[in-house]
Amino acid sequence: MKLTSDEALNILKKERGKLESDMWIEHQICVGNTAGKIAKALGLDEDKEKALGYIHDIGKRYGIKERGALVHGYKGYEYLKKLGYDEEYAGICILHSYLNNDINCLADITDKNGLEYEFQKYYVENHKYTDEEKIINFCDLMCTNKVLTMEKRLIDLLVRHGVFETTQYHIKEALKLKQYFDNKLGYNLYNLFPEIKENL
Ligand SMILES: [Fe+2]
Repeated sequence: MKLTSDEALNILKKERGKLESDMWIEHQICVGNTAGKIAKALGLDEDKEKALGYIHDIGKRYGIKERGALVHGYKGYEYLKKLGYDEEYAGICILHSYLNNDINCLADITDKNGLEYEFQKYYVENHKYTDEEKIINFCDLMCTNKVLTMEKRLIDLLVRHGVFETTQYHIKEALKLKQYFDNKLGYNLYNLFPEIKENL
């Protein structure tokens, strides 16, 4: 079953007020709206892009403290599959945390004992990322509950989560991703978001 952006927002609406903060919901809304703008500028399916953004962290419904990429990724994947959504929607829950098809390329640390580690490793390594999925990767690195430059957001993550063995590798791949979209657009992607200047 396909997931529209309206349906995705409805799923989020039902989650409001259930955890100690709704910040995780605001973050997903920011990612969806930001991703939608980029998709539109690239001539991709804007509504699908928004839906992917709105839902990518849905696995956090089981607890914000379970923020580990493997845990919330797999739980979100399982949840959307159970609701009957197609692989392309469920898959984003796992795929969004990792760059360069590498389960070790993330802003956090890979817990090799994490939920369904082998399954997720295989899933990430053998998936051909679409531009729609890469946009979610990128927007997750731009958004808190508002849109920031990726560079600022990466610093925000460093400050909150610390530096890990793979941090430099992850930042290099994130910068490549920004370049990838700048090249595709033919201009600096940040031009799409003039409000970024207010959030520096
Ligand atoms: Fe996210």
